Amino acid sequence: MPFAKITGSGSALPTNCVSNDVLSKQLAQKGIETSDEWIVSRTGIKQRYIASDDIKTSDLAVQAARCAIEDAGIAADKIDLIIVATSTPDYIFPSTACMVQSKLGIAGGAAFDVQAVCSGFVYALTTADAYIRAGNARCALVIGAETFSRIIDWNDRGTCVLFGDGAGAMILQASDKPGILASQLNADGSLHTILHTEGAVHHGQVVGDPFLRMDGQAVFKKAVTSLEASALAVCEKAGIAPTDIDWMVPHQANVRIIHSLGRKLGLSEDKVVITVDSHANTSAASVPLAFDVARKDGRIQAGHKVLLQGVGGGFTWGSVLVQV
Ligand code: ACO
Repeated sequence: MPFAKITGSGSALPTNCVSNDVLSKQLAQKGIETSDEWIVSRTGIKQRYIASDDIKTSDLAVQAARCAIEDAGIAADKIDLIIVATSTPDYIFPSTACMVQSKLGIAGGAAFDVQAVCSGFVYALTTADAYIRAGNARCALVIGAETFSRIIDWNDRGTCVLFGDGAGAMILQASDKPGILASQLNADGSLHTILHTEGAVHHGQVVGDPFLRMDGQAVFKKAVTSLEASALAVCEKAGIAPTDIDWMVPHQANVRIIHSLGRKLGLSEDKVVITVDSHANTSAASVPLAFDVARKDGRIQAGHKVLLQGVGGGFTWGSVLVQV
């Protein structure tokens, strides 16, 4: 049975970078008080990128995909599986994955979206791994792409400072050499109310609240405990100790969650990739974006064991252990 090996990665951010100071001034004009000091001390976020109205989620996804395809050195028509993890698709249907396929000018193979909010990328990667191991695909394009700025209530200071837009992509190919070593996914639907966007279209009308709502402290506690358990489980599956991990690339929501997790796993801070300071929380895009940054700047190298972790609405969480 072949391994699914990561042979390329790429990422994309909108051009409009909004610092905490600029956002604070914009919110102050609406009578909403916040500050760089509050945002940095609670979350570690210093800035975020916000897509202009003419940019769709699939545009960011395609930009990241093109980088990953070039990085892998493959022809786009070699791709026989496209999975896009997103909670902010272009349309109800067709899937964002089909829009990506069309924009890349390729056809054939399977293309579909996965919706597991901030855990979406680890869900998508695990799915692609299963396709490749079963012999149902040879070359997969896996993308996390979001325009969360569209579902944020810009009058709610408790959430609007936390998110940004972006995309990250990976190419996975069938290989005899180790790639994805183990994965572990979880969901607890009974916790659906701690992080949700409940709006839906019914008979031409938006029914319910179309904005993201969150119980921040409940999410914080659940994220730390569930990610620790998932990391230990995936390491046990792969037969390694957490301290054998070269790099941890966790979902980028909050530096306090990330540092607390690193401490629980006995990983020093210099083994943890952090991009939440410059990207904010890009939901399903955060893990592949952070992975691509650390791979391109030379921190993540061939042979390294990397723990990718997602956690988010649903409630969902999971881990993928990869040998690069
Ligand atoms: N600026 C200034 N003050 C603020 C802001 C803001 N942007 N937002 C909230 N406050 C105020 C509140 O009104 C409250 O004031 P009060 O005491 O006068 O009522 C005070 O700050 C504390 O509010 P809390 O919500 O209790 O703040 P907390 O310390 O819990 O921090 C945070 C909020 C950062 C969201 C925290 O709960 C957290 O990190 N949660 C983790 C969840 C997370 O990161 N979610 C991201 C999406 S989920 C995911 O990706 C998994």
